[in-house]
Amino acid sequence: MPPATPCPVGCQTRSFDLSNWPDVDLSRVAAVFCEVPLSAYPELAGYDRAAVHAGLAGQGGLFFASDMAKLLSLKPGMRVLDLGCGEGATSIFLAKEFGVAVSAVDEDLPDSLVLRAAAAGVGHLVTPVRADARKLGFDPGFFDAIFTMNSLFYFGTDDLYPSYLLGFLRSGGELVIGSPCYRSELTDDTPEEFLLEFPACLAVHSPQWWRRHFERTREAEVTHAELHPRGVDFWADRVRFLLEEQRPAEMRPSRREMVHAIIRMLNRDHDGFVSHFMLHARKRAG
Ligand SMILES: C[S@@+](CC[C@H](N)C(=O)[O-])C[C@H]1O[C@@H](n2cnc3c(N)ncnc32)[C@H](O)[C@@H]1O
Repeated sequence: MPPATPCPVGCQTRSFDLSNWPDVDLSRVAAVFCEVPLSAYPELAGYDRAAVHAGLAGQGGLFFASDMAKLLSLKPGMRVLDLGCGEGATSIFLAKEFGVAVSAVDEDLPDSLVLRAAAAGVGHLVTPVRADARKLGFDPGFFDAIFTMNSLFYFGTDDLYPSYLLGFLRSGGELVIGSPCYRSELTDDTPEEFLLEFPACLAVHSPQWWRRHFERTREAEVTHAELHPRGVDFWADRVRFLLEEQRPAEMRPSRREMVHAIIRMLNRDHDGFVSHFMLHARKRAG
């Protein structure tokens, strides 16, 4: 079991008092929830904290996206599938920072992506595609790379899904997954607090599970499937960002419930059971 990552900015405890929820002592937020330092990501110079998290539904924001992109060998002009892209913030990021042509796919894609991509100067590189990830209409081998962040567990755990997805990647093409994970698989004894977004959490697995999920296709060489070194901090950083952005009482109910559930989970987790992972794989030739 890897040791819990020490907080780089010195937060000592994860316990946050929820007894008065949603009226909580916001002055304690900074002491409890780690902030991922922008200085650790020089490639994001020019982005502030709001921009790192803007339009992203999950944890890690552009910190996570940037670390995932580093595992790929992206070159201008490459065709990239951003699968389960949400509002397409990562699609714009990949197009802007790497000059790649991104197909931004989500079943719930907002119409605003076209305008936002154009405003970011990458309207010609981002193609919005509203589609179910299990019914994609691309040609076989169309993509040089597949990028999927905080999404794949929603639709990609079926035994046959990895082979289906790899079908859209050219031989030698690369896949990167970044996602919430458990350090090891859930058991009957797993505390209730860890069962976030039940039953969706039942599709959240360990890095080893995802490695095997792709390796058994025999079509992919998995070169990396590990807990992210900031995988625990991504949870705390997200909660901190959301609490600093808006008081819980003012949040829309679904967000308020989600933040509450994440804090309960972090209060219970003392050794990094809930984290994030990255997986990188290369499609074998032939
Ligand atoms: C937690 S959000 C993450 C979105 C984005 N990648 C991000 O990091 O902000 C998960 C996304 O998966 C999408 N999704 C879930 N099931 C899907 C499916 N079957 N086909 C396409 N998208 C799906 C949802 O619409 C949602 O936008």
